[in-house]
Amino acid sequence: MLVPMRAILEAADKHGYGQAAFNMNSVGQIEAAIQIHELLRSGAILQGAEASNAYMGGAEDFMHGDLETKKVGAKRIGDAVKKYGADSPIPVALHLDHGKTLESVKACIDGGYTSVMIDGSSLSYEDNVALTREAVKLAHPYGVSVEGELGVLAGVEDHVFSATSTYTNPMQAVDFFKKTGCDALAISYGTCHGASKGKDTKIRREIAIATKECMMHEGVNGFLVSHGSSTVPQEYVRQINAMGGQLENAYGIDVAQLVDVAKCGINKINVDTDIRLACTRNLMELFLNNPELQESASIGAIWKTMRANPKNFDPRNYLQAIMPTITLGDVPDADVAKVVDCMKNGVIESIAPLLVQFGSYRKSDLIEPVTLEQMADRYKKEGI
Ligand code: G3H
Ligand code: 13P
Ligand code: ZN
Repeated sequence: MLVPMRAILEAADKHGYGQAAFNMNSVGQIEAAIQIHELLRSGAILQGAEASNAYMGGAEDFMHGDLETKKVGAKRIGDAVKKYGADSPIPVALHLDHGKTLESVKACIDGGYTSVMIDGSSLSYEDNVALTREAVKLAHPYGVSVEGELGVLAGVEDHVFSATSTYTNPMQAVDFFKKTGCDALAISYGTCHGASKGKDTKIRREIAIATKECMMHEGVNGFLVSHGSSTVPQEYVRQINAMGGQLENAYGIDVAQLVDVAKCGINKINVDTDIRLACTRNLMELFLNNPELQESASIGAIWKTMRANPKNFDPRNYLQAIMPTITLGDVPDADVAKVVDCMKNGVIESIAPLLVQFGSYRKSDLIEPVTLEQMADRYKKEGI
């Protein structure tokens, strides 16, 4: 069933495990992600970023999509999650990742998202509080959960690049929860987005611990989120480069550190890059092991675009030839079906070990099956 994200994070917090959240960029990926969560009996948080909504809406320049296109994409993602998740035995939440505007938040609520992030981390503290509070006022009447962000992560965050990070102040995080009424908060504590997180990154776990302690002390009932948490498995990097890719300085967060922070304050762990890498590796293998596919009328263009951009590992940049498959799930021929299988298997391979290692594996029955309407009633009663 579809649930607000809050229900999934409440269980993770109460039972002391980490709940991963995975970025989705096609109908096939959504189907595969729900399937592997079901098989492992884990609750599921699937997320679409602003760029994913634009891409799924059909925007060629998806990093700069307009609102109308994002509305179309948000609905397509929402419909796909409903198709595979509404009757699923596991609780599934669909979350907007790094939402930038209230219009985007609204488009996602209308499109069927059960949770939204409003990322005001690049604003002043006061403006971030004000924007996040508005998002809460917009979302909570629908029972939709809200995640904010405080502190700046190094690396590329959506289109905003920051060379250095500003770590979250634990006491300010408590104030942020109190002033905004948000359900979850992304903190900056040493992770960063993308495949170049630096070798041997050490998470400042003390920031997560201190923030959670301050929250408990002040009776704040919220959840902490770790963005930029891909593990960048080194075999993916090795295999991609052995097939002609050019990934340099690609290192992620050591999974043991994520397992550790999941036990001491972090409830939600965001992963996107690992999926992109696994899908890219699978597609390179497909075309190299089956050279005739390089000339396929329906998918040959994918290979040509990949070959021309060996540093790229974001599948959205080379799948233009099969957009109806990506956005609507249509599979017109056997060659396209092979590409879809590569994407699905990339999702399954990268997600499964994290569900087991972070501990959400076999915990789906601990999540309260609360509907959006029931959650809306709770917020109303509590005045948030
Ligand atoms: O945090 C950012 C996510 O990796 C989403 O990336 O904005 O390129 O879809 P995107
Ligand atoms: P990665 O780039 O480490 O996968 O981070 C994903 C993320 O934080 C999505 O919000
Ligand atoms: Zn993020």
